[in-house]
Amino acid sequence: MKKVTEDKLCREKIRNMDYLKLLGAGAVTLAAVTTTTFYYLTSRPQPIPLLCDLNDQTQEKDHHVDGERYLLSFIEFVCGEGMGNSQSIDLIVDPANQSEITDKNERSRMSKLCKNGKYLCEYEDGEVKTLYDAFKRGARVSNNGEAYGWKPSPSEPFQWISYNDVLVRAANVGAGLIAKGLKPENTTNVGIYSQNRVEYGITEQACYMYSMVLVPLYDTLGPEACTHIINQAEIKTVVCDKNVKVKAILNRIKETPDLESIILVEEPSEEMKELVQKHNIDLTSFAELEALGEKNPQEPKPAKPDDLCVLCYTSGTTGLPKGAMLTHRGTMATVVAAGAVLKPGGIDISPEDTLISYLPLAHSYERLLECYCVLNGARIGFFQGDVKLLLDDIKELQPTLFPSVPRLLNRIYDKVMSQINSGSGIKKKLFNMALASKENELKKSIIRNDSLWDKIVFKKIQASLGGKVKLITTGSAPLSPKVLHFLRCCAGCPVVEGYGQTECHAVCSVTLVGDPDTGNVGPPLPCCEIKLADVEEMNYYAKDNKGEVCIKGPNVFLGYYRDQAKTEEALDKDGWLHTGDIGQWLENGTLKIIDRKKNIFKLAQGEYIAPEKIENVYVRSPLVAQVFIHGESLKSSLVGVVVPDPEVLPGWAKTNLHVTQTMEELCANPDVKKQIMTDLTNIGKTGGLHSFEQVKDIFLYPEQFSVENGLLTPTFKAKRHELKLKFKSEIDEMYKNLV
Ligand SMILES: *[C@@H]1O[C@H](CO)[C@@H](O)[C@H](O)[C@H]1NC(C)=O
Ligand SMILES: *[C@@H]1O[C@H](CO)[C@@H](O)[C@H](O)[C@H]1NC(C)=O
Ligand SMILES: *[C@@H]1O[C@H](CO)[C@@H](O)[C@H](O)[C@H]1NC(C)=O
Ligand SMILES: *[C@@H]1O[C@H](CO)[C@@H](O)[C@H](O)[C@H]1NC(C)=O
Repeated sequence: MKKVTEDKLCREKIRNMDYLKLLGAGAVTLAAVTTTTFYYLTSRPQPIPLLCDLNDQTQEKDHHVDGERYLLSFIEFVCGEGMGNSQSIDLIVDPANQSEITDKNERSRMSKLCKNGKYLCEYEDGEVKTLYDAFKRGARVSNNGEAYGWKPSPSEPFQWISYNDVLVRAANVGAGLIAKGLKPENTTNVGIYSQNRVEYGITEQACYMYSMVLVPLYDTLGPEACTHIINQAEIKTVVCDKNVKVKAILNRIKETPDLESIILVEEPSEEMKELVQKHNIDLTSFAELEALGEKNPQEPKPAKPDDLCVLCYTSGTTGLPKGAMLTHRGTMATVVAAGAVLKPGGIDISPEDTLISYLPLAHSYERLLECYCVLNGARIGFFQGDVKLLLDDIKELQPTLFPSVPRLLNRIYDKVMSQINSGSGIKKKLFNMALASKENELKKSIIRNDSLWDKIVFKKIQASLGGKVKLITTGSAPLSPKVLHFLRCCAGCPVVEGYGQTECHAVCSVTLVGDPDTGNVGPPLPCCEIKLADVEEMNYYAKDNKGEVCIKGPNVFLGYYRDQAKTEEALDKDGWLHTGDIGQWLENGTLKIIDRKKNIFKLAQGEYIAPEKIENVYVRSPLVAQVFIHGESLKSSLVGVVVPDPEVLPGWAKTNLHVTQTMEELCANPDVKKQIMTDLTNIGKTGGLHSFEQVKDIFLYPEQFSVENGLLTPTFKAKRHELKLKFKSEIDEMYKNLV
């Protein structure tokens, strides 16, 4: 399911981006082109330093290091001594060697930064081991600088709270929670149901300071899932940002009998005050909680490295969400390793840096980035909570770190390209020349924002991100190589793609800063090793450098909270996390994700089917936005549910079928179905599908699968189980007419 449903708000926001003026026509003359050429020849831009040889990015793990020790080190986390990260980076600036096989038996690969098969994951000789330590370090290195920023209203500028003030308020919040009856112990789970904001950060720090565990709740999980989380994690207290969240919890309060109190950041409404009384729930404002803690101070009882910091519930494609147990040690290892990989490429975060915080803190990706900032004393500016105002927030904040997700970048790409394509021929020509010039530089690992092309062509794009971005990260779902490459050309700063999942504290590999290649997710981070395990039923074998991506190291989670069965599915007895993704080692030691292991089934004649592979081929049809492929082991053919592209189909039908119809009418139109069927079959053929992999019938559905209608997961994967249920009657109908 490559083309995902777009967040409508995002779409609207980006529509407002001022790319139309992207190419200031006045500046664009042939003379400018000549000047550029001249400028290019006279100023010699320097390539950025590379961590290692881009042709050889990993190493095999040393074969005399035995597997046992790795299991031990997984548990005890024995890191190499004297491996302060700055030291080792200096040693390994070898730009032809990105990762190595370091274990001949397992054929696992590690980062070039790993010495003697040891993980690189400790910070400042092990002084900084928890997120609490990290925050205190941030306070120290920034000299009590600005920590969190927020806009009180759209018309007011960002205001900032310092590191030490956050610590003081966190101590009050923690003491307040204790006064409310929570125990400062590593088994106390505190719910938080809030958008990113200052109080979120303060609550988080309060938990770490008093050994409590944060449990994020979020809307896209759905009410049933939230109830499950509150009960499973035995949450007694939930911190909410808004009255509506309180209401959502109170609506199902009968199903969460152990919930005792709610802390509300916003002013409680009269309705809520009445409701809580009715349900006998304690409702305290955040300010009251702080005041309560101030009156009843408590000595900090900081979390230990192996304590959980967060129970991060993730929704699978089926069933109830699972609580991934994430630890302080795991988070720190990942942050330290990621920092060590970015540093040689010139990305060194300091108190001068600013992160725009808008991706949900309920996900490990955003949490990891914030930890990276905090550790280095950087500033975190929270967006106002409204996607429509995000670009304004960015303009004012001028972030240097811009985390992103593919769906946002895809919109930027579509927007820019549609304007270029609808513009004049000269604009298009210039844009392509600018891209070609940047491409040339990228190949030499030159990344800059001060070429003439930047000034005349890319400036608008860069300015829309605030003008000071020095690193863009993308993660959470695969980004198409086309868009990644485009962005690297336009952004004037490194764009790195991370790969991972919550179960490995968000990330286990990142493309190297300066690697111009797309279509890989980089070498392993130095906090882990990665191997590819045989998947016989799909014909992927480790000997061919293909197989299921398996991860081991301190960044691997402890398991799912109170769910032994699911834990055993994910973690094998040797501590390898089985991701379900199929990977391939490229020649240069980088990992490429090529397939998914799950959702494999057999057709009646015994052929294995990987529906996602087929869907990824079919969505190449311009008429198609989304496809869901279905098959059954008792049937010998496949059927599909197809959502046509609403931006393409009506125009196409008008031109080709001479009809002007709504999406609903078009989906019911047999001619449309016939044409789409033909198109899919042709695309399947050119895309290399076997004839048994081609759908034999389709059903056209006018509404996109989305998170909101429950057909996609929050990370935009198809909820296959739900899709199957939803389209059961249509699927049965299609099979009736097939043999
Ligand atoms: C890495 O390997 C892939 C596949 O062999 C190749 O396409 C790519 O150009 C290589 N990258 C570099 C930087 O050499
Ligand atoms: C990569 O580095 C390893 C040692 O780190 C070395 O043995 C190997 O020869 C290097 N490969 C290339 C292609 O330079
Ligand atoms: C809580 O702390 C105790 C004592 O340090 C430790 O044995 C236990 O494993 C910890 N539990 C969790 C869930 O972190
Ligand atoms: C170029 O990028 C740097 C950050 O790497 C930023 O400070 C600077 O303002 C940018 N310059 C222009 C002209 O956009």
